[in-house]
Amino acid sequence: MPVLKREQARDMGDASGLPKLPVPPLQQTLEMYLKSMSHLIPEEQFRKTKAIVEKFGAPGGMGEFLQKKLIERSDHKANWVYDYWLEDMYLSNRLALPVNSSPVMVFPKQNFKGQSDVLRFAAHLISGVLEYKSLIDGRALPVDYARGQLAGTALCMDQYNKVFTSYRLPGPKTDTLVAPKSAVMPEPEHIIVACKNQFFVLDVVINVRRLNEKDLYTQLERIRKMADIEEERLPPIGLLTSDGRTQWAEARSVLIKDSTNRDSLDVIERCLCLVCLDEPSGIELTDTNRASLMLHGGGTDKNGGNRWYDKPMQFVIGADGCCGVVCEHSPFEGIVLVQCTEYLLRYMRGSPSKLMRAASMSELPAPRRLRWKCSPDIQTFLTASADKLQKLAKNLDMNVNKFTGYGKEFIKRQKMSPDAYVQVALQFAFYRCHGRLVPTYESASIRRFQEGRVDNIRSSTHEALAFVKAMVNSSKITDAEKMELLRTAIKAQTKYTVLAITGMAIDNHLLGLREIAKELKLEKPELFSDATYATSIQFILSTSQVPTTEEMFCCYGPVVPNGYGACYNPQMDHIIFCVSSFRDSAETCSDLFVKTLEGCLKEMQDLCRKCNTEAKPADSTERREGTPKVMKNGNKS
Ligand code: COA
Repeated sequence: MPVLKREQARDMGDASGLPKLPVPPLQQTLEMYLKSMSHLIPEEQFRKTKAIVEKFGAPGGMGEFLQKKLIERSDHKANWVYDYWLEDMYLSNRLALPVNSSPVMVFPKQNFKGQSDVLRFAAHLISGVLEYKSLIDGRALPVDYARGQLAGTALCMDQYNKVFTSYRLPGPKTDTLVAPKSAVMPEPEHIIVACKNQFFVLDVVINVRRLNEKDLYTQLERIRKMADIEEERLPPIGLLTSDGRTQWAEARSVLIKDSTNRDSLDVIERCLCLVCLDEPSGIELTDTNRASLMLHGGGTDKNGGNRWYDKPMQFVIGADGCCGVVCEHSPFEGIVLVQCTEYLLRYMRGSPSKLMRAASMSELPAPRRLRWKCSPDIQTFLTASADKLQKLAKNLDMNVNKFTGYGKEFIKRQKMSPDAYVQVALQFAFYRCHGRLVPTYESASIRRFQEGRVDNIRSSTHEALAFVKAMVNSSKITDAEKMELLRTAIKAQTKYTVLAITGMAIDNHLLGLREIAKELKLEKPELFSDATYATSIQFILSTSQVPTTEEMFCCYGPVVPNGYGACYNPQMDHIIFCVSSFRDSAETCSDLFVKTLEGCLKEMQDLCRKCNTEAKPADSTERREGTPKVMKNGNKS
């Protein structure tokens, strides 16, 4: 992969060296919209929607007017959809951040041999964070390049600048993403350490010197001791950040009436990140349980209050070895989170802990406990937040499954895109469980463009439906025909992917047309008050590929009450699936979905093995991925 510093990339063109996100042609979007919904809604409803869409797109109609306005907007903005998208996707969403919005990275279980091991790990990790932050500030991170489909293009690096500097401020109607324009922090930097629901300020620059690992360890030890003093413990204010955004905004407006609270909030909001030193959870640390604990902290009675959800990066270090990162999603995508986390894990592996070698400052000022003044009103808010987090934690139905049947190597040999194949498998599993397909979201990166974030690949295509119906319902269809349907479904999915990553998907465009009408104070176009539009953005299946090169996995919750979150991490010879849903939905069950998915992946493999004439011949790796090879003499190898 070519390595190009951002400064060099800049020299190649405009500020970022990247093109602007195009506004797709109006008719193309409208046609794709109709096509994407026609098989997911009743015929009668579709006829009505078709008439509405045709009226909207008629020559001289509302669609053309709004399209013109969007193009004008794109002339004077680096990215015409960025603000609209950020507001719609995150800031105006009133749901609680844990489970509903914040994805997590789950590390392999660590084996700490006592408190000092935990603190050594924390000090080492913080050292890595400071290194990484200085790379970001010095604009020294190598530019990311696209892989997979249309590989090789440089990607926008803007999201990295927000990793350690931004903060999501709750508001009564909408939140604000506070993100300083300059990456250089003019003031001394600090980290917040959460321990036993208390928050401590750990200054990482003292007397213009960055703390070394031994200093960090010393300070962490002091924090640990301070947290142990029971008489000094303050209420678990962090719980408020786990509540719905409107409720938290309301609680915050009461909290800031007191100057002590105001000061504490200010310090948290300006920190680089949180390091959460968690208590042992007391439960078996399976992949599934670690994922759940990372998503909600185990609720109020475990580590749920040992968090500050508004901050983008919270590194969780559990005394029992349950570790990972909780991420507030609005400033950056999972891919950036992976890059940062992988850097840290490599840093920790590659550079031995420097605890013994560094000379510590003789007298470091003691870390500070953040103080809170809790009025009875705040106590009431806290009780409500605690109750809600507890319910949210109980309601999460999580299943992490390592599918070991095969991985992307087998799929590539079928001359198919692994991502498209997995998406078709997810559709297959959904259909087998529910007998229908539903609007599906797959995140597609649009970082090829200035300030690019993501758009949506609508994976529940006609072609996917034809394939899954053939697999589930019809015994009259031959395997060769099923294979042809699979190939067609994968081609359709791949085609949509390429459209999405080149800025030609429909979701951002429709959002732009809707929002510009609102901005111009026009009556809401019928297209957007139509029931089909509401259905089209209820993503019952919310999916995302988050591949890693280090041993860890990403997961997140469902985005609707009756939906699934499905995050997958394809590796050469296996695929990790993290499926989430809510227990109180009678329609979903993560366990069943995952088991069905496993079956579907196996059926697809059997089909490919039997009928895919285009496949590259199996090599020696095939044996590792599938059933044991039968030797000529009948013995299994
Ligand atoms: N035959 C053989 N190999 C193929 C193939 C085919 N027909 N099609 C693709 N491949 C190969 C690719 O060359 C690539 O090879 P590599 O592993 O050597 O790089 C590999 O298979 C993977 O490609 P593919 O499965 O097609 O997917 P992709 O990597 O292009 O990913 C998206 C597709 C949509 C996931 C990606 O473009 C994207 O947008 N990722 C970001 C998602 C995101 O934002 N997630 C976080 C959300 S918070």
